[in-house]
Amino acid sequence: MKIFLDTADINEIKTVARWGVLDGVTTNPTLYAKVGGSYEDILREVCAITPGPVSAEVVADDVDGMLAEGRAFAKLAPNIVVKVAMSENGLEAISRFADEGIKTNCTLIFSANQGLLAAKAGASLLSPFVGRLDDINQDGMGVVRDLAEIVAIHELETEVLAASIRNPLHMTQAALAGAHVATLPFKVLKQMVHHPLTESGIVQFKQDWTSAREAAAAKDGAAKQEVAATAQKPGE
Ligand code: E4P
Repeated sequence: MKIFLDTADINEIKTVARWGVLDGVTTNPTLYAKVGGSYEDILREVCAITPGPVSAEVVADDVDGMLAEGRAFAKLAPNIVVKVAMSENGLEAISRFADEGIKTNCTLIFSANQGLLAAKAGASLLSPFVGRLDDINQDGMGVVRDLAEIVAIHELETEVLAASIRNPLHMTQAALAGAHVATLPFKVLKQMVHHPLTESGIVQFKQDWTSAREAAAAKDGAAKQEVAATAQKPGE
């Protein structure tokens, strides 16, 4: 299963790349607004950090506008994936991008049917939003599960990318539901790394190691002193 980072923050992306677990990055206008600057410059930098897919989201509502924005993104780096929101125009744009060989990530998917349509139109990634469905008391992970099953049954050439992941449990559930990818905020990835028993275990091992080394050094010192004392005894 692939892990993408859901952020436009370069430092977070560099950190996770160093951990060796970064398969790609997703951005969106809200994540970009948090860091500001030039979206294009950020995308170029992210694409240089990871060879994996980097999603860049179009904001136009009309097909021509989506195509113009997406084509410009696609020129920035070979690993750009154009993110298009689910809609009638979005489907048309996804289909046109597919004809041009430009990969797309259909975002803001909230039902398996929307995902099925996006797959048929040619999206290479389908992004069902888990957390936002949970927020309105609906089963977000159920959509991931259904969509992953539909993709498998019909051998569709696309991947299910579990998005709007809010906690480590979502991640485990997405993996078990058959999602091909999950995109996570940096905070959730960090939560996945840590466990209180791991932390306390590391402290305990370090303490035991230090005590053992000190005891060994003390024993060694005492033995050397005894040898020296024996060597100094006169007449022996
Ligand atoms: C996915 O590509 C989206 O950027 C993201 O997962 C949305 O998450 P949110 O619902 O927490 O904003």
